[in-house]
Amino acid sequence: MENEYNQLTIFLKENKDPYRSFQIIFRVYDDGLGFRYYFPEQPAMQEVLISEENTTFHLTEDALCWWIPGDWDIYEHLYHTTRFSEIDATAYQSHDNLAQTYIPVNAVNTPFTLRLEDGTHLSFHEADLTNYAGMTLKTDTNNFIMQSGLVGSERTPYKVKRTTPFKTPWRTIQITKDAAGLIESDLIVNLNEPNKLGDIEWFQPMKYVGIWWDMHLGTKTWDLSATQDMTSATYGHGPSSTSHGATTAYAKELIDFAAQNNIGGILVEGWNTGWEHWIGFEDREGVFDFVTPYPDYDLEEVVSYGKEKGVELIMHHETSAAPRTYEQQMDTAFRLMQKLGIHSVKTGYVGKIIPKGEYHHGQWMVNHYRKVIEKAALYEIAVDAHEPIKATGLRRTYPNAISREGLRGQEFNAWATDGGNPPEHLPIVAFTRMLAGPIDYTPGVFNIKLKPYKENNQVNTTLAHQLALYVVINSPIQMVPDLMENYKGHPAFQFIRDVGVNWKQTKVLNGEVGDFVTIAREERKSGNWFLGAITDENPRTLEISLDFLEPDISYEATLYLDGSDAHWDDNPVSYEIKNNTLTNQQQLTLQLAPGGGAAISFIKK
Ligand code: NOJ
Ligand code: CA
Repeated sequence: MENEYNQLTIFLKENKDPYRSFQIIFRVYDDGLGFRYYFPEQPAMQEVLISEENTTFHLTEDALCWWIPGDWDIYEHLYHTTRFSEIDATAYQSHDNLAQTYIPVNAVNTPFTLRLEDGTHLSFHEADLTNYAGMTLKTDTNNFIMQSGLVGSERTPYKVKRTTPFKTPWRTIQITKDAAGLIESDLIVNLNEPNKLGDIEWFQPMKYVGIWWDMHLGTKTWDLSATQDMTSATYGHGPSSTSHGATTAYAKELIDFAAQNNIGGILVEGWNTGWEHWIGFEDREGVFDFVTPYPDYDLEEVVSYGKEKGVELIMHHETSAAPRTYEQQMDTAFRLMQKLGIHSVKTGYVGKIIPKGEYHHGQWMVNHYRKVIEKAALYEIAVDAHEPIKATGLRRTYPNAISREGLRGQEFNAWATDGGNPPEHLPIVAFTRMLAGPIDYTPGVFNIKLKPYKENNQVNTTLAHQLALYVVINSPIQMVPDLMENYKGHPAFQFIRDVGVNWKQTKVLNGEVGDFVTIAREERKSGNWFLGAITDENPRTLEISLDFLEPDISYEATLYLDGSDAHWDDNPVSYEIKNNTLTNQQQLTLQLAPGGGAAISFIKK
């Protein structure tokens, strides 16, 4: 990937005693810029306590914006589309489905994307968030001004504590002519330090199944005794959930299914003791130990059965937002994984952080998330963090930071009390959250209406839209989350079998923020191409040129399209499959239903 920029350093010094100095370093790229503050070592400035940073951005017009509130504790909000002057984050201060939320002032979280009248797109974010607090952008809606608002801590009067020499994260603005350009920009990754781990060939990108969606649907539980009453809050158990999900037998069944369907991994949640006490309790310190399985789950047996079948276990470490407990046990937990040959872990941080007064996005937690990445690397473990700190391109330096949540994921469709993620959710996410880095969204639910499990919830897209997400969303791990019975014998499942997860190149063929996007990606090993197109609640006709395909080659294309009567609400599972031989000389016209999509595999003949 290219990393070409011009750099300018501005040296600033007080003109009186004690002559303290600092620098501002600018890097300007074709597709945007970054700047950071550097504080050199100096006698008059050793320890630095930062109470606010006050980097200020002046917009020149009342731009159209796509934003989530500047929450200090979670990014799992729906996006709002408003003019800058209409940003009103504090209106979203309480939400039934968020296990923790704190929105102190009118601010937005980044990446914050907006469009100017002349069509220029801007996205504000940060790169290389290291030993610092996460940045929100406080909005002065009357004057079109944004100011960096660092996430704080109730335990300290300052927000960041550093010792010189140190540098702040980069403050970044991606600037492109059109929306598609934002997705193609590598600016965030480029503003990070080079790879410290070398080639991590011990982790291979993969699709994975899991004992997971069951719990969100309420057909199974995380806790062995199924005693938790959480019907009213986040992660509500359904009335039917009386059986523990993580059993050896169920894991083996899923491993068989994965092995038969070109899926390389399996995630098992609720495998370790502690889930009786994981949420809804103040004292969650010492609850999980990350090495003790429940008696109905034989960890070693599952791992070795998986190895026989070529399916790797993804370990699960829910910390219930008690990072000190996790830090104490991390070596023990990772050592067990190393012994068993497990090379990836999904972590989780549900709930208010213990100790009280810390927030998920403050300096204290930023440092925790980093410790996990660094420690995991020592044990050859890749990390997929849920309830994470935002991605800021760290995967360049630590390629074991493979993916993360940090958005309203698919799980909300199972239990949100506000109607779930609307059809426009991913057409916004692709141009906002996804600019930060890979997303573990868990696409691919086929039982869209969630019948008979959830009366009041559904996935608000068509089936073809769900398929297309495997291409639209970039992540080296992609879940195949639905219950096996919904995939078995389903013709459209062939797309999930075939689709790649390890991409050589990406082309964004079209897109408008919040409306639609089409992305084509080339699979690294096979050279096959896959295309995903999604739309919001509006139907669309998209003209696609296939000139991204290799010339002089015929591809066997399978098109998974919305049926002519498909509609995200009225008829979400209406779809059709077409086969065709196609070359790069051809054009396609894709008809997307309301909330619909299209997914195409191009397999070299
Ligand atoms: C939140 C994660 O996002 C979800 O995927 C997981 O199932 C629960 N925490 C339990 O760890
Ligand atoms: Ca979550």
